[in-house]
Amino acid sequence: MAGATGIGLAGVTAAPAAATSPLLWERPGRLGAPRVSGLHLQFGSDASREAVVSWHTTASVSNPRVKYGTSQGGFGRTEQAQTTTYRDAKSGTEVQVHHARLTGLHPDTDYVYAALHDGATPELGTLRTAPRGRGAFTFTSFGDQGTPTLGKLTATGYANDNLGSPAAGDTTAGVEHIAPLFHLVNGDLCYANLSTDRVRTWSDWFENNSRSARHRPWMPAAGNHENELGNGPIGYGAYQAYFSLPAAGADQELSGLWYSFTAGAVRVISLNNDDIAYQDAGNSYVHGYSGGAQQRWLEHELAAADADPEIDWIVVCMHQVVISTADKFNGADLGIRETWVPLFDRYGVDLVVCGHEHHYERSHPIRGQQPTDTRTPIPVATGTELIDTTKGTVHMVIGGGGTSAPSNGLFFSPAKCRVITGVGPLDPATGKRPPLYVVEDAPWSAYRDGEHSYGFAAFEVDPGERGGNTTIAVTYYAVTGPYGDLLPVDRFTLTRPRGARGAGSLSR
Ligand SMILES: [Fe+2]
Ligand SMILES: [Fe+2]
Repeated sequence: MAGATGIGLAGVTAAPAAATSPLLWERPGRLGAPRVSGLHLQFGSDASREAVVSWHTTASVSNPRVKYGTSQGGFGRTEQAQTTTYRDAKSGTEVQVHHARLTGLHPDTDYVYAALHDGATPELGTLRTAPRGRGAFTFTSFGDQGTPTLGKLTATGYANDNLGSPAAGDTTAGVEHIAPLFHLVNGDLCYANLSTDRVRTWSDWFENNSRSARHRPWMPAAGNHENELGNGPIGYGAYQAYFSLPAAGADQELSGLWYSFTAGAVRVISLNNDDIAYQDAGNSYVHGYSGGAQQRWLEHELAAADADPEIDWIVVCMHQVVISTADKFNGADLGIRETWVPLFDRYGVDLVVCGHEHHYERSHPIRGQQPTDTRTPIPVATGTELIDTTKGTVHMVIGGGGTSAPSNGLFFSPAKCRVITGVGPLDPATGKRPPLYVVEDAPWSAYRDGEHSYGFAAFEVDPGERGGNTTIAVTYYAVTGPYGDLLPVDRFTLTRPRGARGAGSLSR
């Protein structure tokens, strides 16, 4: 303990007495202050140097801030948080989200932090920054989680009204067994747009996941169930308030819906497919909302990544899918095949992770499209263990994050795909535009798991040696119980020559 003003926290040595802000935690006032709820992290665009610490309250707070430092040096630095608000249109509740942006961090370094505001007990977390340049790390991914919480009182007792189940807690425990550098959330986070109390559902989601997301950024893509009637100009106001994501030059009202960040030699690009998918599956139909802005950004972003000799891997995280072999669930969407896939081909995207379908499957590497009504993807190789992604893009559907509506029992046999090729006129009975389907063969199908409803994928990035190949070893784990016990179900390896992008790109 250094200095009489320091208070030891969880074995962390306090800052030297010379630190300008002594470590005095204010005790809650007599009237109390809102607690620090839903503590979670995001990376900035450079994951080796920038992160944001976020929490939320439903009342105003004073002086929201984060104290942080290393386990050796203590909480010697303070960063003030900026507060973003949204008012939930259904309940009228205003939610305040406090975001403290930490910059100038050191790569590949462990930090400790405490988030607090005046009168509140600090909540503690840790953060590890990404390596700078080529380095080894692991990330994980799932979508379509929901919450394990029973939030709606019915005549027969409490029920979950947002497609959640106990598995939504198990998968988080499973991710913590792996302890990745970051976790990609492939859309349909908590299904607040279905629930009676939307603010409570968001709160439940963060309460369930803060045990992981306060130690490693959960980097999301918005799905159709983030589209909430009345919240924000196009329905994503809650999502946009809860997360502080890297800037992508979008208009303020579209901020956070697409973004990218770099970790090691991996560029991750997160997209919002409701802009370009045909399916009408949110609270409102927002097809075309960006007026092409997202597509223009994506092309610029992909071209820049593919021209960057420091980038080996381009990974896209999004929600609705290019491939699915489930019958009578959502299906694949022609809008994505028309709009994104030609760009993924042109700039050599290695891997796409998505959700929307509530099961696990993956494609062979695909490049190019058959001249069919559905633009059937063309597999360029059929080996299922070692896959050269300079030849084509591997798509993974990882939608078993925990909902009460899994789709692993709905596979076509043999594999086929229902593709949404458009929508019909608005049906007043449902308030939705019904999807128009065309069924195609699925020569691109490589693996599907009909056995397990819940799980996630882990990606071990190995930068390799100069002049050799870099690899990503992928494992899909089924989560098998309340302790997040893991069962490896599918393993394969992605490979590509290290340093092959830039002027010598193999992708085109
Ligand atoms: Fe979903
Ligand atoms: Fe979805």
